[in-house]
Amino acid sequence: MQIFREKTPLQEAISALKASGKTIGFVPTMGALHLGHLSLVKQASTQCDIVVVSIFINPTQFDNPADLENYPRTLENDISLLKNLGLDLIIFTPNAYELYGNKIEAEQFIFDGLENEMEGKFRNGHFNGVGTVVKKFFEIVQPEKAFFGEKDYQQLQIIRRLTEKYNLPVEIIGCPIDREINGLARSSRNERLSAEVRNDAAFIYDTLKKVKEKFGTNSAKSINQWVLSQFEHHPVLKLEYFEIADIVSLKTIEEKKDGVQYRAFIAAFAGDVRLIDNIALNN
Ligand code: PAJ
Repeated sequence: MQIFREKTPLQEAISALKASGKTIGFVPTMGALHLGHLSLVKQASTQCDIVVVSIFINPTQFDNPADLENYPRTLENDISLLKNLGLDLIIFTPNAYELYGNKIEAEQFIFDGLENEMEGKFRNGHFNGVGTVVKKFFEIVQPEKAFFGEKDYQQLQIIRRLTEKYNLPVEIIGCPIDREINGLARSSRNERLSAEVRNDAAFIYDTLKKVKEKFGTNSAKSINQWVLSQFEHHPVLKLEYFEIADIVSLKTIEEKKDGVQYRAFIAAFAGDVRLIDNIALNN
């Protein structure tokens, strides 16, 4: 396992590997690694000879300076988790200057409206920051394939749109959501929940599974109402949004149509911890 902090030696190493016929997979992360991140790295290693994992807390995707400041920084632990996988990995942990120079600013993107749905309504400019950093990483790493979790489904679809718009020669692979035993989607934020609340938070996935059951026979409108009423009576969780959306446009559906794939999305607060999750409804 090699660790690089600077892009030039990283690029030299990657060029040499490519010249010897190795394929490169890429898993971008912001560190504070957990089993969800590791599931992406494992999937990447089944499809590519070498996996580059970036660990970089990207300042331009935070709309709240306190969130950026409080984001967990656990580099030593992240490195040992990756090492323990025993895979052919390269870690890239640049500082902000290495990626942005003196201008720590997001590019402004139009992702055909995808950026204005769901998370976009609550996190101002977030996807401009994500698009900016991922585009920079793709240019530096030049992977054949890049792996993103379905946990952040909107992000995954936006990255797909980014690669289409800019003709970036990378295949985007969506990876399934890795869950705790009780079903809660793994997230570094789960560490901030008490054991009790962590159990309560399983309600989010339980609700999504029931939505999937209901989707075959109930209208989207009645399912929406049902979900709102479930959360209304919940003692711990506060719903921020529930949406059933077409997976291509990410727009809320009015009526189900044949041949269209749908997913249900939830964002909810447990105290001050914001949790998101989603489920495929008809595939
Ligand atoms: P981060 O939140 O660290 O997540 C890195 C990747 O891990 C993302 O693709 C995310 O969807 C995936 N992931 C997180 N939890 C997961 C889970 N339980 N199951 C499956 N995949 C999971 O997402 C970001 O970082 C950043 O926005 C980034 C893309 C790195 C750009 O800065």
